[in-house]
Amino acid sequence: MILRAPLHKLPFGHRARATYTISKLTYAHDWATALHEHIFSLPADRFWGKPWNLVATIDNFAKANNFPTTGQAPRLEIVRDLLTSMDPKPKLILEFGTFIGGSALAWGATLQDLYEGDSDAVDARVYSVEIDPQLAKMARDLIELAGLEKVVLVLDEYGTEALRQLCAEDMVQERRVDLLFLDHWEENYLPDLKVCEELKLFHVGSLVVADNADCPGAKDFLNYLRKGGGAVSYENELIESTGHARPTVINIFMARIFLKHCVYHANISL
Ligand SMILES: C[S@@+](CC[C@H](N)C(=O)[O-])C[C@H]1O[C@@H](n2cnc3c(N)ncnc32)[C@H](O)[C@@H]1O
Repeated sequence: MILRAPLHKLPFGHRARATYTISKLTYAHDWATALHEHIFSLPADRFWGKPWNLVATIDNFAKANNFPTTGQAPRLEIVRDLLTSMDPKPKLILEFGTFIGGSALAWGATLQDLYEGDSDAVDARVYSVEIDPQLAKMARDLIELAGLEKVVLVLDEYGTEALRQLCAEDMVQERRVDLLFLDHWEENYLPDLKVCEELKLFHVGSLVVADNADCPGAKDFLNYLRKGGGAVSYENELIESTGHARPTVINIFMARIFLKHCVYHANISL
């Protein structure tokens, strides 16, 4: 039986999720709580200052408990390698969809490695947005446990609303976002990408990485990119991530974004 929750009772909040099933929500919360308890039952010195240990522990727990929504070392490694090869070094990462912080921790750890532990001094930041406050709180606990709380900031809000606030407060500025990681609900990928375009967040060489864009799918998002985008032009690379816990979801889609002559324009062939 599928139970439907009234809008105001949905922990995932937004109207678009009005038909989200209670059982799926409960499952995600139960799983996140179990992971949180497991991590905090282990000695804290195993993780403080060692965020990769925490990323690996989350991944192992996800694998052991057959939970597909977080961790997944191969896709984290793909993005980490992309970030590591960026020149100049990335400083600002924006993520929609934190869950319990598995990927956000990996981006924070990557920035820390790139700046040899001095990421704070150079204003390197990950802003990760999670619509569910309970999950956002658990993610913050884990980020703090790893000592990354100054680098990785989790906001509990609807993704683009948080982003608009960050821009209004000058925390995120035009042409400063090095990586946009889309990992929330696929139907939001295109509208949320358009908000980023509208806010002029990308610069030449910015990366947009969209998890699961092809399967189960963000068809409108892919079509938009394939037709040349709108205000921004994109290059497309499809990278297959092996070892995914969910066999139907194996690809990471990514686009490079180019700004020519400081004017956002559409011109692409895929
Ligand atoms: C696939 S999980 C994220 C996994 C995480 N990136 C990781 O790799 O560990 C998707 C998350 O997106 C959140 N979410 C869905 N729609 C959102 C939105 N519009 N803004 C922010 N978060 C959203 C959900 O609550 C859920 O926790």
